[in-house]
Amino acid sequence: MMNTMPPLGLGTFRLQGQAVTDSVRHGLQLGYRLIDTAQIYGNEAEIGAAIAASGVPRRELFLTTKIWTEHLAGDRLIASLKDSLARLRSEAVELTLIHWPSPNGAVPLAESLQALAEAQAQGLTARIGVSNFPVALLREAVALLGPDRVFTNQVELHPYLQNRAVVAAARELGVGIGSYMTLAYGEALQDPVVRAIAAARTATPAQVLLAWALQQGYAVIPSSTRRENLQSNLRAAELRLSTEEMARIAALDRGRRLVNPEGLAPAWD
Ligand SMILES: NC(=O)c1ccc[n+]([C@@H]2O[C@H](COP(=O)([O-])OP(=O)(O)OC[C@H]3O[C@@H](n4cnc5c(N)ncnc54)[C@H](OP(=O)(O)O)[C@@H]3O)[C@@H](O)[C@H]2O)c1
Repeated sequence: MMNTMPPLGLGTFRLQGQAVTDSVRHGLQLGYRLIDTAQIYGNEAEIGAAIAASGVPRRELFLTTKIWTEHLAGDRLIASLKDSLARLRSEAVELTLIHWPSPNGAVPLAESLQALAEAQAQGLTARIGVSNFPVALLREAVALLGPDRVFTNQVELHPYLQNRAVVAAARELGVGIGSYMTLAYGEALQDPVVRAIAAARTATPAQVLLAWALQQGYAVIPSSTRRENLQSNLRAAELRLSTEEMARIAALDRGRRLVNPEGLAPAWD
């Protein structure tokens, strides 16, 4: 169960029913080996079924799920993870994240982390991590668990929101960065700078954005309902951008946050 994490995986947010079944089936056929889901996505059971039907041995896969905020209490977290595992038809997942910090600190971080660490000790998840954690909470998590325990902080990160403070803190703390919505949910695919680089490199705009993130050491999990997009996105790892191209994309930062749910979002950096 200690499979290394593929840097490029398959996102499944918003995909339900037949759409998620098809996306996972195609993704596995094309060579994706990491699937990113969450309790709140309501698609863990379809993903578990699609994996079972695929014929790909479970040991070759890396599954990430995320604990929803209603399950962060010490007496609920492990039971909810076991429910996820049943839906995913897995004895354990490779990575479990706290999806969002507990709104208004309703559940103390120490309580959720203790439960998550206990889940890891029980062998229910190989690694543990967090998502949507601003710098202060990330520091708190690392202080509570100790070094080398928080595997990743999965955050919104694309050229329009480069989240530099969180990235700097994560690097200092030895926490990996997962970029979600690397394509800015499609918005950055229209960017003239991105399109110019793509044209010059005979690549797709999505490949340029994914390569830009991968080259900085971020894990990426683009989602798509289209097989051809899944296929070309997977090949982003073959593209190597020049220092100058990287710099042109770095200059696109404008603090444009797409995911900022009221009542859920913490105080961002
Ligand atoms: N931790 C969190 O709180 C959190 C929050 C949001 C997302 N996530 C994770 O991150 C994953 C990625 O985020 P996301 O799915 O919201 O956004 P995204 O990957 O940035 O963008 C997905 C959109 O881009 C389009 N697309 C993908 N590849 C394309 C290509 N090659 N050419 C043209 N269009 C393309 C897709 O449309 P088509 O279907 O038409 O290809 C879809 O509309 C999610 O699925 C989820 O697993 C995590």
